[in-house]
Amino acid sequence: MAGERGVFARAPGRVNLIGDHTDYTGGLVLPMAIDFDTAVRGRTIREPVVRLRSKHFDGEAVIRLDEADPSGVDPPWARYVAGVVHELRPADGFEGEITSTVPIGAGLSSSAALQVALTFALGVTDPLAVARLCQRAEFIATGVPCGIMDQLTSTSGIAGYALLIDCHSLDVVPVPMPDDLDVVVVHSGEQRTLADTAYSQRVAECAAAEELIGALRQSSAADLARIDDPVVRARARHVISETLRVRDFAAALTAGDLRTAGELMTASHASLRYDYEVSTPALDALVDRLTAKPGVHGARVTGAGFGGCVVALCERGVLREGRRVRPSGGASVAFDG
Ligand code: GLA
Repeated sequence: MAGERGVFARAPGRVNLIGDHTDYTGGLVLPMAIDFDTAVRGRTIREPVVRLRSKHFDGEAVIRLDEADPSGVDPPWARYVAGVVHELRPADGFEGEITSTVPIGAGLSSSAALQVALTFALGVTDPLAVARLCQRAEFIATGVPCGIMDQLTSTSGIAGYALLIDCHSLDVVPVPMPDDLDVVVVHSGEQRTLADTAYSQRVAECAAAEELIGALRQSSAADLARIDDPVVRARARHVISETLRVRDFAAALTAGDLRTAGELMTASHASLRYDYEVSTPALDALVDRLTAKPGVHGARVTGAGFGGCVVALCERGVLREGRRVRPSGGASVAFDG
């Protein structure tokens, strides 16, 4: 027993600027951690459970340290807690409270923020190890075979920078965000839970494409002709073209070419809409409305899609809706007592 010391851990949500549905095939993504986060405050206890409350969710999470089936736990939000406990197997019990400013079901990684904050609170803080653990925890809790982008962004965020992440090598390259730029997230009004979407189906479609042409991260548009099924071909076309857009976007941002950066975001949205089919009429209408405004460089759905938020890149102060988000530092933890 490590003694009953107090702990305060926090982990940010993220917005993905470009590179969606590329992480689970080891492609490139370019997210940033944001100034909306989830915090876990608590202390170790002698009982063999992790017990958490939150004013944002009904009920209490009471997870035995030897919980065997996180996906069957109630209330449903407690499955995220159970996933972490299952993967971490903490030696000591823990009791605490969750607070959060990350909107839930908005595509801003509220579940990754919760799981990363909890893992830090339970004493594991290596950014890559925590990201991997929480990726497994999300899968075991929800059955969604997610990539590593959300968790790695939450552990590795740097104030003032977006992160160019190679999801195969897991190299993280900081990309400075220009000061005179606003990143604004606007909610479509459609909330969703990944487990209820076609996310897993998209992962399977990418696997089907890779059976035919090999790793998508190493493929080019010329390889697409070897895929007969038009749906699988379209999914592969999105992944291959999105990886190129991420590379070009990082270069444009670094060069201060915001017009090109914005155009790449809007092209990314079109690809997610037509080739990957993860957009909705509400998201499309929002992107069209925002990109028609003077001073908006580009906009796109962010995260998995099927609802949630649009992210817009724009000149300072031109958008008077949604929430401005700032590139922020990654998860942290402090102990007392
Ligand atoms: C969700 C997943 C991520 C990633 C995005 C889409 O946020 O958790 O791993 O696949 O969707 O880019």
